[in-house]
Amino acid sequence: MLIKNCRILIDGVEKVTDILTADGKIIEISENIPEGRLEVVDAKGKWVIPGVVDAHCHMRDPGLSHKEDFMTGSMACARGGVTTFIDMPNTVPAVTTSEIFEEKRAMMVGKSYVDYGFNFGGSRNDNSEEIKKVIDKAASTKIFLNMSTGDMLITEDSVIENIFRESKIISVHAEEEMVAKAIELCEKYDKPLYLCHLSKASEAKMLREAKAKGLKVYGEVTPHHLFLNVDDVNADERSSMLLRMKPELKTKEDNEELWKALADGTIDTIGTDHAPHLIEEKLAKLTFGIPGVENSLEMMLKGVDEGKISMARLIEVMCTKPAEIFNIANKGKIQVGYDADLVIIDRDDKSAIKDDDVITKANWTPYEKFNRGGRVVTTILRGQIVYSNKEFYGKYGREINYHE
Ligand code: DOR
Ligand code: ZN
Ligand code: ZN
Repeated sequence: MLIKNCRILIDGVEKVTDILTADGKIIEISENIPEGRLEVVDAKGKWVIPGVVDAHCHMRDPGLSHKEDFMTGSMACARGGVTTFIDMPNTVPAVTTSEIFEEKRAMMVGKSYVDYGFNFGGSRNDNSEEIKKVIDKAASTKIFLNMSTGDMLITEDSVIENIFRESKIISVHAEEEMVAKAIELCEKYDKPLYLCHLSKASEAKMLREAKAKGLKVYGEVTPHHLFLNVDDVNADERSSMLLRMKPELKTKEDNEELWKALADGTIDTIGTDHAPHLIEEKLAKLTFGIPGVENSLEMMLKGVDEGKISMARLIEVMCTKPAEIFNIANKGKIQVGYDADLVIIDRDDKSAIKDDDVITKANWTPYEKFNRGGRVVTTILRGQIVYSNKEFYGKYGREINYHE
């Protein structure tokens, strides 16, 4: 495939150039590549960025697939410019044994429009022996140190420590003091630690200090913890039911501090924590989790418009860094030899985000009141169009590979 007239960043410099792909890889980046008999897509000077890598999605498959499944969740990804997602283990049954892990991997073959990986779940019964069996095939071990959706909370210190000892990388749901505890264990066991969804200024501060000490600790923030706060929750009855998740939305000051930490390099990634529940479920009973994957890039582009981060930083935190932290091979950069995962964006489209064009089975978006900072026009996965102008083409997604 030849993608012509792409506005891209090369070493921080903006250029309009062509991108040539073969066998799913980028093989040439240069101006005026001859068309020949290639499939040609003309980006017409629009922005083209690497496919987004979202390290934090709950696709609900199997067991909760009335809320989302691998097909619909991956369509929402393609629609949002996400070409790789990592799925969380709080599905049913919870992914806490190697057998269930292998069953889930087998079950998802051929269901996804984009590439994907799986987290393995740490369990309170101490499944550290099981971690050893899946370590090469899992993105990381996910543990919950605070209560959230599902039944995966671990409180026993010895169990948590055994899981740190046996894991390659630990992704943690930790809030406030539990962030401090996770950082201590990162230091004690010298294991990379990925702090999911930081939501408070004080948590960003802990991360900044841990990094200054040289620890291998990384932080993620969700678009909702950047753009929404408790004032939005309290705005009306409907929002007080819908805008609920763990960790909960905090204050406007926290929003500002999180933006700063994202811009200054303290926070490493954007992950959506895409955690769909049907809107009817949310309105009937307090239920934690919100969808996010199809609006994350469009919202973060809004952050670029508002001067909160640069385009270069957006690409780092949404594409390059998540691939690096989880050792994902060939993803996250527009570079010769990398997978041809590309997103064409219309930055002139500042239209309103609407509930009625969402794909997720959740059937609503937390960003209804916002205008997008740009629209995803076309999503390309390994040199094949998977989404373009509201049409979907082919479930070409497959499981990612890891370095080492
Ligand atoms: O709000 C949340 N929902 N937070 C989590 O950590 C899990 C998620 C879910 O699975 O619904
Ligand atoms: Zn969580
Ligand atoms: Zn989550």
